Amino acid sequence: MRRVLVVDDEELIRWSLAERLRADGHEIAEAGTAAAALEQADTGVDLVLLDYKLPDDDGISVLKKLRELDPDVLVIMLTAHKQVELVVEAMKAGAFDYATKPFDLDDVSLRVTRALETTRLRRELRTLRESLSRPYSLGSIIGESEPMQRVKGLVRKVATSPGSTVLITGESGTGKDLVAKVIHYSSSRAARPFLNITCSALPETLLESELFGHERGAFTDARQQKRGLLEQADDGTVFLDEIGEMTPALQAKLLRFLEEKTFRRVGGSADVRVDVRVVAATNRNLEDHVRQQKFRDDLYYRLNVLRLELPPLRVRENDVALLAQYFIESFAKEFKRSVQGLSHAAEVGLKAYGWPGNVREMRNLVERAVLLSESETLEPADFESLHTAHIHTTGTTSGFELPAEGVNLEDVERSLVTQALERASGNQTRAATLLGLHRDQIRYRIEKFGLGKKV
Ligand SMILES: Nc1ncnc2c1ncn2[C@@H]1O[C@H](COP(=O)(O)OP(=O)(O)OP(=O)(O)O)[C@@H](O)[C@H]1O
Ligand SMILES: [Mg+2]
Repeated sequence: MRRVLVVDDEELIRWSLAERLRADGHEIAEAGTAAAALEQADTGVDLVLLDYKLPDDDGISVLKKLRELDPDVLVIMLTAHKQVELVVEAMKAGAFDYATKPFDLDDVSLRVTRALETTRLRRELRTLRESLSRPYSLGSIIGESEPMQRVKGLVRKVATSPGSTVLITGESGTGKDLVAKVIHYSSSRAARPFLNITCSALPETLLESELFGHERGAFTDARQQKRGLLEQADDGTVFLDEIGEMTPALQAKLLRFLEEKTFRRVGGSADVRVDVRVVAATNRNLEDHVRQQKFRDDLYYRLNVLRLELPPLRVRENDVALLAQYFIESFAKEFKRSVQGLSHAAEVGLKAYGWPGNVREMRNLVERAVLLSESETLEPADFESLHTAHIHTTGTTSGFELPAEGVNLEDVERSLVTQALERASGNQTRAATLLGLHRDQIRYRIEKFGLGKKV
């Protein structure tokens, strides 16, 4: 449904236009003054029928302000008979069309339909153009490790089923936002909006009205009806980030929407139907939330049907070098630097690191290194924060000095892991802490060096 704003100070004219356009299937908003018109337009309209003579401003000036507010909104000027100069002036100021009083309602109805079709095409074209230049194709998800190949395979399938709800889980910085965008921009919904909201960022009542919209008078501040994200994203995708923080009452409302595709605006009694794909994400353990009854199990089961689990970076050692190279190239291009890659030592250092901040942390470290480096190859020293992080967790790394004749790094590593295990009496978690590693990383090394049997 398209929203048409009828602006005229004569109530009777507003009424007859509104009646007719409502019968045509449009949603109508009305305003009797320039100030009210701008306020209405601010809440989102697709088309404005604008009377030239308003009590508080002249039509041309309102026209200009409307177009500043939203360059996509089309305006049909309403003028009295024989105001040719006005019509010319209005068209020059960007009016799409005009209709003269007294109105032939069939004629107005036709002009409105034509204008709305133009708006739709313009918007579609713009989003399409933007999505083409946007780097959110499947190829923008970097990673060839086995778990990432699985993820990419699933993303491809999900993109071709544009109706299904998706749940993306994974630690902070693992790429949940990125994957949500790729799902949208490689689906048939790509030309329609991708809107996102972070469920933890707003208190319950605000989140509810942001998501579902509200009717005029629904609460003290609701002076106008407002369309929520779900309506604004019709035919598109809504990304609900940090879904684990949603309150139970909203969870129930969301579940109803997912099952029936309809919802009610806050304070409304009519069901609104939209076609929106919901992609939800969380870095929490939803299963725990369900067990603790913080998250509805029925909603959990509904969301969990299609689940994309993004693995932490520390378990995909093979992707570390690939991601580093990808970020080096993109930042070198952006900052016009000649950096081309990692030295072997730097690569070893990056692979050994635990990446608590996952890909986001990697991106930040590489950005800084590329910006500051003077050479073509990044050395361990270029990753300063990596070192401080290490020193922080392992104590005095500076105590190790490379002997003149060099060492066999593998042997040193093996010896350190063995010592750590001994000191921790075989407790892997404690041994890992001694080395500034995560448990998965020490497990990997225990296996690699065949130390498992001894402890
Ligand atoms: N596989 C990947 N390939 C390329 N870039 C990636 C990949 N994964 C993540 N990134 C980049 O890393 C950064 C962090 O990713 P993103 O914001 O998607 O993480 P997130 O899982 O949503 O984190 P949070 O839980 O903190 O919101 C972004 O700049 C993103 O583009
Ligand atoms: Mg995110």
